[in-house]
Amino acid sequence: MKNSKVKTVGILTSGGDAPGLNSAIRGLCEAGMNCYNMKFVGILNGYKGFEAGQCISIEKETLPQLLTLGGTFLGSTREKPFKNKEKDSKTGLSAVDSIKKYYKKWKLDALVVLGGNGSNTTAGLLSQEGLNVIGLPKTIDNDIVHTNYSFGFQTAVSIASDAISMIHTTASSHSRVMVVEVMGHKAGWIGLHSGIASGADVILLPEIPYDKKSVAKKILENHKAGKKYSIVVVSEGAMNKEEAQLDKKAFKKERASMPCSMGERVAKEIEELTGLETRCTVLGHLQRAGEPLPYDRVMATLFGASCADYLARGDFGKILVWQNDQIVGIPLLDVASQVKNVGLDEPLVKAAKSVGICFGD
Ligand code: F6P
Repeated sequence: MKNSKVKTVGILTSGGDAPGLNSAIRGLCEAGMNCYNMKFVGILNGYKGFEAGQCISIEKETLPQLLTLGGTFLGSTREKPFKNKEKDSKTGLSAVDSIKKYYKKWKLDALVVLGGNGSNTTAGLLSQEGLNVIGLPKTIDNDIVHTNYSFGFQTAVSIASDAISMIHTTASSHSRVMVVEVMGHKAGWIGLHSGIASGADVILLPEIPYDKKSVAKKILENHKAGKKYSIVVVSEGAMNKEEAQLDKKAFKKERASMPCSMGERVAKEIEELTGLETRCTVLGHLQRAGEPLPYDRVMATLFGASCADYLARGDFGKILVWQNDQIVGIPLLDVASQVKNVGLDEPLVKAAKSVGICFGD
């Protein structure tokens, strides 16, 4: 057994769930228990459960089954305690004060937060409040800055790619345009990767505003060239060139009044401009569902086990990221409130264009 600066560690999962969360928890707990004799407290339902004092003790016997289990066995919410300034009517405590209260009450020496951008921003703020915090990067959206990998992304891309690859047959049978909407409000990584992997003709991303006429032109060209069907992948946060000119408030208002999803809107636009029969499939939460792929399990295990070493050294206030094929810890606040977007000079975008994929720009 090696020396450790911490004995009792709280773990919480926050934000949208992602395949690999349980694998990372299992990696962290196995390494923490085996190498450092640490104890783990599972905080239920993200920061919301922390505020309410909901926790369980994580026992060694529960760990093996977690490696392949999807979702998060601890539960998750999108609670943002620093945005919630109200004091509880019974305790008189704010959300952040309650968290500090339970951190003390449960005698935690440290807290590990498995989350995306928002959750790690909160983790950074809690660390400024004096808690010993380490963040781990989970998101199917792959949009956390300074890390080349976040667990959950590969599984989501695989699910989306399989679905889009399958849709070719029915598109071909009916000579239709099939639009498939994938997740990604601000960042189009799932759309870019799954679109390339599944032979899409058009990919529309939030980062590359589209012109519906260029999309229609590409589809009609396909048709003329004898390809009787087309596949269009649309990120849920895609926008057209006019929308890209709007300020944040006007854009939000416009989106709130949109009567359908983005994929459905694009399908209508295509049908109107091309006269070709068009259908839309929204993949939605399927992209976050089910077992993590082996790659996500392996990387989540690496993140979890590395986290035990950071905890033992007392190296807090960091998020562990994947850079140059290594796990490194960088300040939590370096990733706060930022989004890793698909760059216009992204090699994958260039490659996609050179194999004939249209981005509607
Ligand atoms: O976790 C990120 C994400 O998957 C986004 O791509 C998606 O827009 C969002 O979560 C949907 O989350 P929910 O419906 O669970 O709030």
